[in-house]
Amino acid sequence: MSEIDIKALPSDPLTDHEYDGIREFDNPTPGWWYFLFGATVVFSVLYLVFWHFSIGGWTIEESWADDQRVEFKRIFGAVGQLKPDDETILAQMNNPQFMTVAKSAFLGNCTACHGRDGGGLVGVNLTDDSYKNVKKVSDIYRVITEGANGGAMPAWKRALSDNERVILAAYVASLRGTHPATPKAAEGEVIPPWPTQAPKH
Ligand code: HEC
Repeated sequence: MSEIDIKALPSDPLTDHEYDGIREFDNPTPGWWYFLFGATVVFSVLYLVFWHFSIGGWTIEESWADDQRVEFKRIFGAVGQLKPDDETILAQMNNPQFMTVAKSAFLGNCTACHGRDGGGLVGVNLTDDSYKNVKKVSDIYRVITEGANGGAMPAWKRALSDNERVILAAYVASLRGTHPATPKAAEGEVIPPWPTQAPKH
C-alpha cells in the first residue's frame, strides 16, 4: 500500500488533530454559502410576516376579484347599464359572452346551494318548470337582488353589481329545461314558458 504524503497535496491547511491515523483538512463552508443560508432565513421571516401577519399582503381570491372587476368594467363598458326588465333579460340569454361570464358568477356564488348545474341542493331546483317566487324572468332578477324566504336565499345586491345580476337572471332563466345530474324535487308552482323571443319595440 503506497503512502500518500498529504502534506505534499496542494490544498487547505491541515487541522492539528488525528484519530486512528485519519487527519482532516481545514476546509470550512464558504462564506457565500453562509450568506445564502442567512438570506433564506431572513427571506422566510419577511415572507411570513408579509403574507400572513400584515395588511399589505393579498390572497389569490382578492387578486382574482380585482381582476374580475376590471374585466367586468371592460365587457360591460360598451353596454352601459342593463335594465332589469323582461325584455333585456331575455335578450341577454342570446349573448354568449355574457352567458359565459354569468356562468362563472353562478359557479362562484350559487353552486353551494343550487348545485353546479342548477339541479338544487339546499336551494331549489332552477331547471324545472316550477318556481316559488318567480312568474316572469324579471322576478329572477328580483329574487337574486333581494333574496327570498327570509334570507334562506341570500340577497346579492351588495355582492354583485346590477349588470351582473341582470345577466345572472338570464343565465338562471336559461337553465330552465336543462337536465341536471341529480334534480331536486319540484317546488312551487308550474309557470308558463318564457316568451320565446324578446318582444320587439
Ligand atoms: C345559501 C344558499 C343559497 C345560495 C348561495 C343561493 N341560493 Fe338561490 N335559493 C336558495 C333557497 C333556499 C331558495 C328557495 C327560497 C324559497 O324557499 O322561497 C332559493 C331560490 C332561488 C331562486 C328562486 C327560485 C324559485 O323557485 O322561486 C333563484 C332564481 C335563485 N335562488 C337564484 C340564485 C342565484 C343566481 C344564486 C347565486 C348568485 C343563488 N340563488 C345563491 C338558496 C341559495
